[in-house]
Amino acid sequence: MHDLHVVILAAGKSTRMKSARPKVLHDLAGRMLIEHVLHTARALTATSTTLVVGHAAEDVKAALAGWTTLQFVEQSPQLGTGHALLQTESLLSAKKGTVLLLYGDVPLLSTGTLQRLLEAHHTSHAAATVLTTELADPYGYGRIVRDAAGHLERIVEERDASAEQREIREINSGIYALSVSHLFETLHRLATDNAQGEYYLTDLVALYRQEHRKVEALCVDTPDELRGINSRVELADMARIVRDRRNATIMLSGVTLQDPDTTYIDADVTIGIDTTVGPGVQLQGSTTIGARCTILAGCRLRNVSVGDDVTILDHCVLTDAAVGDGARLGPFAHIRPQSVVGRSAHVGNFVELKKTTLGTGSKANHLAYLGDAVIGDGVNVGAGTITCNYDGTHKNRTVIEDGAFIGSNSALVAPVTIGAGAYVGAGSTITRDVPAGALGVARGHQHNKEDWTSTRKTTTGAKPPEAQ
Ligand code: UD1
Ligand code: CA
Repeated sequence: MHDLHVVILAAGKSTRMKSARPKVLHDLAGRMLIEHVLHTARALTATSTTLVVGHAAEDVKAALAGWTTLQFVEQSPQLGTGHALLQTESLLSAKKGTVLLLYGDVPLLSTGTLQRLLEAHHTSHAAATVLTTELADPYGYGRIVRDAAGHLERIVEERDASAEQREIREINSGIYALSVSHLFETLHRLATDNAQGEYYLTDLVALYRQEHRKVEALCVDTPDELRGINSRVELADMARIVRDRRNATIMLSGVTLQDPDTTYIDADVTIGIDTTVGPGVQLQGSTTIGARCTILAGCRLRNVSVGDDVTILDHCVLTDAAVGDGARLGPFAHIRPQSVVGRSAHVGNFVELKKTTLGTGSKANHLAYLGDAVIGDGVNVGAGTITCNYDGTHKNRTVIEDGAFIGSNSALVAPVTIGAGAYVGAGSTITRDVPAGALGVARGHQHNKEDWTSTRKTTTGAKPPEAQ
């Protein structure tokens, strides 16, 4: 067994992102760039994983606080990739085994490719194995220079390359398997006599060759995997690749995506079979969707758990909420955090729920605001109902017990309880509890003035409305 130590470089300043936020913290398909790399590394079950941070180090560390086994090393100032790896010397130089060097901004690399690299490295007993690929347009990358026998001789950076070397299409991915023995002492011998005045890790190859150590290159034909991200344009390109793959996996698992090109499904989302997802839907975070659901165009769900046989009509927004089996939502429903829509419940157009539980089979079909409310089973909430949950200082609770009926355009001034089976008359402003089984009515009484229009005409000369 070879101990595996993963080192990820992420200290560089990413000028081309034009961002106050460190590049590796930018979002790619629902995960930070660096998290894509960390997930890949995790699958390799390394003995240690070390992230070299420098630029905005504190931000990066804070954002990755949840990755408890990750070690951080600071590189300051940032003097090049060779210098960056050298910063791990105190952690790794006494170890045995292999260092796998990754970049924080190369997110698509697959675990399978890395396993192949490690296997090739161990089989050949090389001191260093470089992962390479051939690109139609190799501009910007280090070129792989091979000797007459085809052996890796050295790596030349774009800026240091001759016109002839620039013609080489095999490029350095920057990913390497490196044996720990002799690594750090050789890194100390890197020089800065190059166009950028940096300590290039790539020069390790030539140094090893001088010392007659074995260096190998593994050339793979999956260039997309090796692409790094330098700008927001590349970030969007990469996001499209991740999305396409993700959507293909989802469809192959038995889910219909009506328009995969406009469907955004984050990495950790799960969807049951025979669910249909319409165009322009975004399923984010830890969202889980059951089987046989329909989610129509333009919905966004973030950290939502949805049961089976649920229908969500167009343009609903749901966040940190749960929806029970057979429920029906939308169009244009807004389900805010800590809300629970019960089994077979209905939430219709322009209804907003906040921190509210709607019981089994209950309905709020049109134009309502239900906040800080506990609503039982079989409740009917009429159009225009509002829970007045905020008194300017506190958020107060509304309780509506099983089977109650709230007439349209009612204002329920919390804290207040509507008892089981009680009725609230339409247009009421309810400020006191309504007991179970009672009718609560709280609105102005209606007066009809008989013959009002003709009287008004004779006393003021005004015309009745129908004559205007
Ligand atoms: C590097 C390689 C190049 C390869 C390319 C692949 C060198 C000298 N060149 O070039 O052969 O084709 O990657 O993408 O290695 N970093 C630090 N500290 C530093 C400098 C860089 O941590 O002092 C990190 C960066 O944050 C980045 C990675 O190392 O994650 C690569 O650095 P970058 O400057 O982008 O190297 P390239 O010029 O692209
Ligand atoms: Ca780069």
